[in-house]
Parts: sequence; C-alpha cells; structure tokens
Amino acid sequence: MILYFSGTGNSLAIARKIAEAINDQVLPLTEAVQQDLTNEQCIGLVFPTYDFNMPPAVRTLVPQLKISKEAYVFAVTTCGAQAGNSLWTLRRLLRQKGIELAYAHKIRVPDNSAIAFGRNPNEQAWKFERFAFRLDRIIADIRGQKHEWHFAWWSLAGGIMGWSFLENGMWRTFHPVVNEAKCTGCKTCARVCPMSNIAVEEKAHIGDNCTICLACVHVCPQQAISTNGRETLKERQYRHPDIKLKDLIKR
Ligand SMILES: Cc1cc2nc3c(=O)[nH]c(=O)nc-3n(C[C@H](O)[C@H](O)[C@H](O)COP(=O)(O)O)c2cc1C
Repeated sequence: MILYFSGTGNSLAIARKIAEAINDQVLPLTEAVQQDLTNEQCIGLVFPTYDFNMPPAVRTLVPQLKISKEAYVFAVTTCGAQAGNSLWTLRRLLRQKGIELAYAHKIRVPDNSAIAFGRNPNEQAWKFERFAFRLDRIIADIRGQKHEWHFAWWSLAGGIMGWSFLENGMWRTFHPVVNEAKCTGCKTCARVCPMSNIAVEEKAHIGDNCTICLACVHVCPQQAISTNGRETLKERQYRHPDIKLKDLIKR
C-alpha cells in the first residue's frame, strides 16, 4: 500500500506511478491513519518536502500509522530541489515506532511554492523529463526491495535552512489568504484541502489547521486565494499534468 500526502498532485502522481509498477494501491495518508495496515507487507510513503523538512501534517500523521514492523517500508519525497531533512525526520519518526525505513529517495519536480515568490511552477515542467531516469531507478529499487537511504542522513544545510525559515516567520508568511472580494464561495478550495481545513459559508474561511500545501491557492477558479502577499495569476496556478481536479477532491 502506498500512502501519500499531496497538495498539487506531484506526490500523488509519483505514488500512482510506483503503485502501478509494483501492482499496489494508493491511499491518502489522512485515511490510512484510520485503518489497520498491519497485514501489508509493503508500505510506501510519498509526500512533499516543505521548508527542508516534512510537512507538519505528515509529521503528525506518521506516528499514528498502524503498520507492521516486518513490512518493507520505503519513502519518496517530492521537492523542487532540496529535500533537506525530510527523509531523516521520517526515519526518526518511524524508528520511534520500532519500524526501520528500508529505502528512501527524493525526486525533483516543479516547485509549487514558486507562486509565493512570483514565479511560475509550470515553467519547471522540464524537470519531468530531466528526472524521469531517477524515477525509473527508484521504481526498480523498490521492485527489488532494495535497502538504501539517499538523503535520509541529517543535513546541516537542511537544519539551518529549516530553522531560519521558521525563525524568520516564513511559515506564517506563506499562509494562504482569501480575498473576499474575489471569492464566489464555490467551495473548490474546501474540496481539495487535504486537511479539511476550509469552511465555506458565503466566502471561504481557512481554519487553524493549515499545513501550507497551497492546494487552495493553485485550484481557486477565481484566483481569490493568495500567499506571501502576491496576487495569484491564473497562468501560475499549478497542478501535476497527470492529476485531474477530481483526483485532488475527496482524498
Ligand atoms: C510551503 C512549501 C515549502 C516548500 N519547501 C520546499 C523546500 O524546502 N525544498 C524544495 O525542494 N521544495 C519545496 N517545496 C516544493 C514542494 O516540495 C514540491 O513542489 C512538491 O512536489 C509539492 O508536492 P505536491 O504537489 O504533492 O503537493 C515547498 C512547497 C511548499 C508548498
């Protein structure tokens, strides 16, 4: 079973590709924590890197998983460039449950947070072709149940960057903000939010449990949700090309 967390579909697309290759299924991490997965012989975790580490939501969910200590457990993190301490944190969290992470790797994909800096994630589509060989290798490794960690050692650069991001309040800076004048109350944001953290009455309201996946910013048909004080432009809204809006809904 391949468990995933995904805001804009990169991690879901990678999870699906691995699942297809090893004849397995995907399951959202948010649902996986409600199930007993102790009979699964192979558990995969696919999730994005945020601020050189694991998304806070994934950090909260992983300790709740019911998985076997005998299972082959692998992880892949999707990231724009640097996985930092993402996989190291996962290894540590699993170890606290007595579970060994057998295999870990990162894969570079378009950076969905580029929108927060006024850049266009869609212009990074070249990464799909450039790093396709890496995904092929990851799949071959997982198929062979290889034991190998890449990027699962603690990294000083990742530690410093993650710390400075938090220290400088960058996390709060990226928090999505709803422009009520533009919001039509269509609920698309609420449907895709993997945290079920958006309530819509007349207008969308983002609750206190935001993990900053930016799904809402990228899917809003009115471009009414912004981050880092940047106006959201339609052409900068991103979703993995293989992932449809309905795939992001009701996960
Ligand atoms: C808040 C936030 C922080 C991010 N931080 C990093 C980072 O530290 N390093 C990196 O390479 N990519 C970073 N990214 C980019 C994502 O890891 C990348 O786009 C990922 O594939 C998104 O996955 P998803 O489409 O499954 O949500 C960040 C994205 C967000 C939203």
